[in-house]
Amino acid sequence: MVGRWTVPYTGGKNGMSTPQSTRYRILVADFFDAMSSLYDSWAHGANAKEAARLAEEANVGTGERVLDIGCGTGTATRLMSEASGVPGAVVGIDIVPAMLTRARSLDSTGTVYAKMAAEALAFADSSIDVITYGQTLPYLYEPKESLEEAYRVLAEGGRCIVSCRQRSLSTPAQELFFALLREEEQRHPVIPPRLSADRAALGEPRVITTLLRETGFRQITTTHLVTGITAGDAEEWCSLMEWLGPYPHLLLSGLGTVRRQQLYSRLDRRMEELGDGAYTFHLGFTFATAHKTT
Ligand SMILES: C[S@@+](CC[C@H](N)C(=O)[O-])C[C@H]1O[C@@H](n2cnc3c(N)ncnc32)[C@H](O)[C@@H]1O
Repeated sequence: MVGRWTVPYTGGKNGMSTPQSTRYRILVADFFDAMSSLYDSWAHGANAKEAARLAEEANVGTGERVLDIGCGTGTATRLMSEASGVPGAVVGIDIVPAMLTRARSLDSTGTVYAKMAAEALAFADSSIDVITYGQTLPYLYEPKESLEEAYRVLAEGGRCIVSCRQRSLSTPAQELFFALLREEEQRHPVIPPRLSADRAALGEPRVITTLLRETGFRQITTTHLVTGITAGDAEEWCSLMEWLGPYPHLLLSGLGTVRRQQLYSRLDRRMEELGDGAYTFHLGFTFATAHKTT
């Protein structure tokens, strides 16, 4: 649904857990833990390109205090730290220790990295000039709560920059693959946690703009980045898709050799129908910049 944001509360608030939220958070954390070493090189460096663009959009000035929420391997964090030029002025937070370890090992700019949840920020009110969410928001169980926290810790005049994948730019090959995966899910013993469809729509400019405005942000603008790849065959396609997110990862990583081969055959047959569009994959990103101004 575009235009109105609904958070699927099941009783938890301000980081309190419910069985559903706990399962979802474990799934997300396990996925990023497993992905930490290949995160930057995945899909010909698509994530690293997105992170570099996020830092560009943030346009950090000398001495600005920055908080990078869900910093991952720290690509954007490091670039913003260089721009700020003051050791300790930039903080990256994440819930996955493997991501933080990688970010720390790559950093030579004096950035501070801390294990912290996006929904409960341990920072004083109005203490930060710039907050970034590089592809983090759709992975949060309660994105709106985190944005409310971001609004609280931002200083008056501060800005928040969010990047999210724009799913509506998916190719027919991606649509076809996810339809096949939903069929696979019916035969799979593990049931993936289900979330509101609104979360997948966060990268649509109208949806992210509405959510930011409802949180209190103003002067919201959006820009875009699109990258793409064509995989050679079903095996290459699946090894790419396995790292697209927790849902395909949960289903694909659990398949043994036999069922994986069966999936490749079914996928090949269906992709043939797409002709030149077979195994073509688009990754589109929306970047939204929003201001705290009264
Ligand atoms: C798609 S990665 C983005 C990494 C980086 N920001 C970038 O733009 O490349 C999302 C990151 O959010 C982190 N994350 C997920 N849930 C989180 C939460 N509740 N609090 C903080 N970080 C979280 C993940 O561990 C992961 O490193």
